[in-house]
Amino acid sequence: MHSPIILGIETSCDETAAAVFRGHELIHHITATQLVHTSYGGVVPEYASREHNKLLGPVVSGVLEQAELSLADVEVLAVTQGPGLAGSLLVGLSYAKGLALGLDVPLYGINHIEGHIFANFIGQKNLPTPFLCLLVSGGHTQLIHVESPQNYKLIGQTRDDAAGEAFDKVARLLGIGYPGGPLIDRLSKTGDADFHQFSRTLFPGSYDFSFSGLKTNVLQYISKQDPAFIKSHLADIAASFQEAVVDVLSSQTMQAAKDLGHDRIVMAGGVAANSRLRSRLQELTRNEDKTLFQPDLRYCTDNAAMIAYMGHWKYKNQLPDRLDIAAIPNLKLSFGG
Ligand code: KG4
Ligand code: ZN
Repeated sequence: MHSPIILGIETSCDETAAAVFRGHELIHHITATQLVHTSYGGVVPEYASREHNKLLGPVVSGVLEQAELSLADVEVLAVTQGPGLAGSLLVGLSYAKGLALGLDVPLYGINHIEGHIFANFIGQKNLPTPFLCLLVSGGHTQLIHVESPQNYKLIGQTRDDAAGEAFDKVARLLGIGYPGGPLIDRLSKTGDADFHQFSRTLFPGSYDFSFSGLKTNVLQYISKQDPAFIKSHLADIAASFQEAVVDVLSSQTMQAAKDLGHDRIVMAGGVAANSRLRSRLQELTRNEDKTLFQPDLRYCTDNAAMIAYMGHWKYKNQLPDRLDIAAIPNLKLSFGG
């Protein structure tokens, strides 16, 4: 089968990204992180779309230049359709539709979550399905039985905050900055994870998660302490919080894998970049003779390589392409039986 040149575009949140593939193989990708949000302690939607407008053209030209290709070489387009910020998604979609019309090539709308899951297999021709996926991002914390792309079963999910959201909120409570996940991860390396035992919420007989109690627990703990004590134990508190999150995520994942007979476990989403979660799951899966897939760190957080890769999958499987794709800010995976 012909291996087409695919251009992938991702603008769902605060990364403006483009990637070029030849068939299932990545040629080049660029992710431009919007720095404008840092001083606001979170993503400001209006600024995000304005930045995408400014950055997308140069990012696309840049990635094609690095790949030593031109726009005329692009044979397939893939763009994130959702979930994400409405204005940001629209920037990517309008741009991609314009290109698809101008170049007269097929356009595929990609579910960003599906991109995260299959980012593990970028560059691979075949997918090692079925598997159990721990999807942990800023908006999602789910355990999913993945039969194949577009064929999923929900095993468990958070009943309140997502894991990434908990990292970001606790980082804010501790005055560490934004985005909280990578900062807590880095700070925790110098801290004592056993310094304080924060609460771990588990639901007997269910694979669900909950992180809002843990966040409240951290808040109560720090509000009782002297600011100087917190300052001198910041790394210890961060490491203790991170340990509680990692304990819950890893134990629920291993339990579900055992109960449901999964030998393959796949991590996906921004929190899959967490060094402690990665090493804990490596250790646990090794002990139980299971195969663990962890995305390359470059593809854990938002990127366009995962979008182009899914674009290739849709093209290869002859799924219908269409020009009238709508932005779907709350797009979900569709869970069958
Ligand atoms: O997948 P992602 O880039 O965006 C969404 O689709 O949500 O995930 C972003 C989330 C943020 O909450 C961020 O704090 C978290 O992933 N994150 C991390 C790490 N890197 C990113 N959380 C813990 N440890 C990390 N190293
Ligand atoms: Zn994402």
